[in-house]
Amino acid sequence: MMANEALVTHTYRSGSAGTLMLLHGFPVDSRMWDAVVPHLPQQWGVMAVDLPGLGHSRGVLPQPPSLASSAQLIVPLIDALPGPVVVAGLSMGGYVTMELLRRAGDRLAGVVFLDTKAEADTPAAAAKRLEVADQVEREASVSAVLGMADATVAQPLRADRDREVALLAQWISEQDPAGVAWSQRAMASRDDSFDVVRGWDRPALVLRGEHDAQSDDQVMRALAQALPQGQFVEIPAAGHMTAVEQPGAVAREVTRFLADL
Ligand code: MLT
Repeated sequence: MMANEALVTHTYRSGSAGTLMLLHGFPVDSRMWDAVVPHLPQQWGVMAVDLPGLGHSRGVLPQPPSLASSAQLIVPLIDALPGPVVVAGLSMGGYVTMELLRRAGDRLAGVVFLDTKAEADTPAAAAKRLEVADQVEREASVSAVLGMADATVAQPLRADRDREVALLAQWISEQDPAGVAWSQRAMASRDDSFDVVRGWDRPALVLRGEHDAQSDDQVMRALAQALPQGQFVEIPAAGHMTAVEQPGAVAREVTRFLADL
């Protein structure tokens, strides 16, 4: 584990081919990649970041909350890595990846977007996030977002998802309310990123869980189409948290993508 002020990274292993950097979704942390990593190619180094305020990243949070600040903290990590770097981001991690494309796109050999979107929030969605952020802070508790453990898994397969829901609920319950509130405010203020994805002419993989209720099919295909080299792949029998529900299938697609770089 390595820490700078607001960012803790977990290096699973180093590798001669390059480094795959994993950025997790909200409101969990880098542990959501644990089941994916053993299935990734051994020649690739793998590291995961705990995004600001989440997991072990409990340092001073940049103000005002913004995903641009998250990306600014990550850029020096990328600059310090030898060889090609590929970033994979799920949902909020995908939004941060888009901010990385703005700031360090020329340093990345490829990107993987999982269960995410390029659109900014609608005013109603942003207002709802700010309400939740206020509630989490007022209650000094993450109760307001605990329901996401259940809501994010594939609903048609819910009867088979007790283990994943329990795992997600445990991770969510361990988050710092201040970090959860900060993340909600940061996501509420993010920009539309279609300009940056349209201009990023390098390999890009877009993965969507078949039953993802948060990032719908049309939205994710639009992201893949906007990327000049975007490829869209659906992960069967998964909801929003593809990396948790189908880690083997996610790793297989990422492995194929890395082999083609
Ligand atoms: C996530 O999984 O990171 C969240 O669904 C992102 C969001 O709330 O937009």
